[in-house]
Parts: sequence; structure tokens; C-alpha cells
Amino acid sequence: PAAVIVAIDGPAGTGKSSTSKAVAAKLGLGYLDTGAQYRAITWWMLSNGVDVDDAVAVADASVKPAIVSGTDPAAPTITVDGLDAAGPIRTQEVTSAVSAVSAVPEVRTRITELQREIAAGAPEGIVVEGRDIGSTVLPDADLKIFLTASPEARAARRSGELTGKEAADLAATREALVKRDAADSSRKTSPLAKAADAVEVDTTDLTLEQVIECVVTLTEAAM
Ligand code: C5P
Repeated sequence: PAAVIVAIDGPAGTGKSSTSKAVAAKLGLGYLDTGAQYRAITWWMLSNGVDVDDAVAVADASVKPAIVSGTDPAAPTITVDGLDAAGPIRTQEVTSAVSAVSAVPEVRTRITELQREIAAGAPEGIVVEGRDIGSTVLPDADLKIFLTASPEARAARRSGELTGKEAADLAATREALVKRDAADSSRKTSPLAKAADAVEVDTTDLTLEQVIECVVTLTEAAM
């Protein structure tokens, strides 16, 4: 069978990463976390003294870092100029700055090119997760999924991934998530959006296993 391309989009905390990795592993496909790429370029900007609120400075710097994504779903990797970025891209500092950086058109053009190259080079096919994959990056994907969940469910899930004081503050987590989604949904260039031909799956009352099962079934039908 030909390589299958699956686009999985949706806001933060809907289970995109867990679902995408599991589906890719089950079906022998590659996996690409596009949020990690936006986080990686943001980390580079913060580490190199670029003012992330200065869109001109961010645009000028956007071509500088070399960002490389490993697409094995069992062990996805991300490096920036050869440095392992997997840890640093998950810090609060990066999470707070990523929406501003990812809204800059030059950043999106650069990262979108990388994403298309990686998808085209995946011999068995690939599951690509993000915000604009079905709508902009891979409009010809064989299957497009849009995952949603209530803000309460998303905050609870994200909180479960955090530790200590951050986990305890559910209200603050919910507020930060809603704020990031609003920024991602309202930006001019390829905002978070459901593609017209995407299948919407509301995960609020589903277990992760149920969501995986659903997406596996849909993917097998598209192969
Ligand atoms: O998926 P994750 O929460 O790690 O994404 C981090 C941020 O990267 C998002 O809040 C968004 O600003 C940006 N992003 C994007 N387009 C994508 C994936 C992520 O703008 N395709």
C-alpha cells in the first residue's frame, strides 16, 4: 500500500500527542510533533537573546537555528543546532512564549517547509500532529482528524502531566490553556482551525484507549 498521511489537529490537552504516537506505533508509521518544532525555535530565540515580542527580530532570526526532528513514534527526538532540545522545550518559559513566536509568518513558512519535507520523506507514511496540519501544511492528507475536549477536561489532563505546585493549580492551568488557544486561533497566518474535510472527535468523555482505537480504525480505512 502507498504511504498514508494522517493529520491530527486540535487545541492543547486534547490528547493529540498520546494518540498520534500510539496510532503511528501500532500501524508502523512515522510520527511528527509539529508543536515541538515551534517550541524548539522559541527555545533558540530565548537562548539567543531575541525579543520574542518583536516580530521583526523573530522574523530575521527565523532561518538561523537548524531544527531536526526524529520521527520514530517510540522515541521521537528534537535537536536545535545539534543540541538535544527535548527537555528545554517543555519549560514554562517556552510554553509562555511559543504562541507569539509561532504567529510570525516567516517562522511558519520556515517550519511548514520542514514539515512537508519530513512528510514527503516518510516511506511508510506518517502521523503529523499540530494546529494547522490538515488546513495548511498537508491539505492533501489521506485522513484529517480534529480532536476537541472541554476546557475542564483539557486542564485536568495537562495538570496530570505537570508536577508539584503547577499540578496543584488547576485553575491557573485552565486559564493558561484557554489563553494559548485563543492566541493560536486568532492569529492571521494559519490559525488553529478544523479543516472542512476533517473528522471531529470530541474526547471529553472518552478514554485515551478509545480515542486511539477510533483513530486506528479511521486510518486503516484510509490506507
Ligand atoms: O502542541 P504544543 O502544545 O506543544 O504546541 C505548542 C505551540 O506551538 C502551540 O501553542 C502553537 O502556538 C504552536 N503550534 C502551531 N502550529 C502547529 C503546532 C503548534 O502554531 N502546527
